[in-house]
Amino acid sequence: MPSSRMRTAEGRIVCNEGHGGIFYRLEAALPDPVGFVPGQFAMVSGWPGNDPLLPRPLAIFRSAAGPKGKGTVEFVYKVVGRGTALLSGLHPGAPLSLTLPLGRGFDLGKEGRLYWLVGGGVGFSSVFPAAAALARKRADFEMFLGSRTRDQLPPKEWTPGGTAPGRLHLCTEDGTAGFFGRVTDAVTERMGLLSASEASRLTILSCGPWEMLKELALGAANRGVEMQAALESHMACGFGVCWGCVVALREDEKTAYRRVCKEGPVFDAREVVW
Ligand SMILES: Cc1cc2nc3c(=O)[nH]c(=O)nc-3n(C[C@H](O)[C@H](O)[C@H](O)COP(=O)(O)OP(=O)(O)OC[C@H]3O[C@@H](n4cnc5c(N)ncnc54)[C@H](O)[C@@H]3O)c2cc1C
Ligand code: FES
Repeated sequence: MPSSRMRTAEGRIVCNEGHGGIFYRLEAALPDPVGFVPGQFAMVSGWPGNDPLLPRPLAIFRSAAGPKGKGTVEFVYKVVGRGTALLSGLHPGAPLSLTLPLGRGFDLGKEGRLYWLVGGGVGFSSVFPAAAALARKRADFEMFLGSRTRDQLPPKEWTPGGTAPGRLHLCTEDGTAGFFGRVTDAVTERMGLLSASEASRLTILSCGPWEMLKELALGAANRGVEMQAALESHMACGFGVCWGCVVALREDEKTAYRRVCKEGPVFDAREVVW
């Protein structure tokens, strides 16, 4: 039975392969299987030496039970700086240090909701596990994925829950695949077509760049649509000790600072001070 308690584990890399020159998929074997809620993450490091000193946060993409009570965990990531570049250079067999599962994931527990999952860029790494969980529950969902161009969309074989027409909406800013424009435009356009009762049944689950989330949150608030946003922040500890990752929330008409790694990364978008 996979355990969801937070722990530090020494994993071993099984696979660390590039896809389309943009994304890497990293799979590691663990001493025991990990249970997680979609949107939860791990602090990951494995490069030799202490530079950079801090591990990097990555959303847990998939996990599974392995033979003899062991487990596996997968991440997908984009190389943006030193930590992720070093990660991309690690080979199968190398050790990987992990603290996981961390934070608060998406709330998928409400019955009878219609979910729209919105992923911008590498934000699909949090959205896909949510789609997989909703597909297992046979919940009603559609998925919107946005990128600059076709080559920056995630590979088809990673897409969970099927690619049935009407379920998956691809959006590219240069029009090379799917909707010609930003994913926020596609979602806002669709929201505009909803009746008031449809809007009240809808929950948006989203992960992506701050500006994308902000625009979606404003559009959702205008239509009275519920939205959960997985936020990113620079993190040092990853488990609530350093307060280096806070965001401002509006609570009871006051501003409160909450830790992305502990109270988040998933927040009710209506509470975030965008
Ligand atoms: C909860 C959480 C889950 C994440 N999940 C994933 C994931 O599944 N896949 C993935 O590719 N990335 C994910 N990220 C982002 C990832 O952690 C950063 O890209 C990574 O830490 C960058 O490290 P680096 O050393 O390569 O880059 P750095 O050298 O540290 O930074 C390079 C550039 O990226 C910016 N940057 C770095 N970290 C962040 C951050 N956390 N938020 C916003 N901008 C940042 C820096 O300002 C700088 O411009 C996640 C972040 C969080 C907080
Ligand atoms: S990263 Fe230390 S409290 Fe969030």
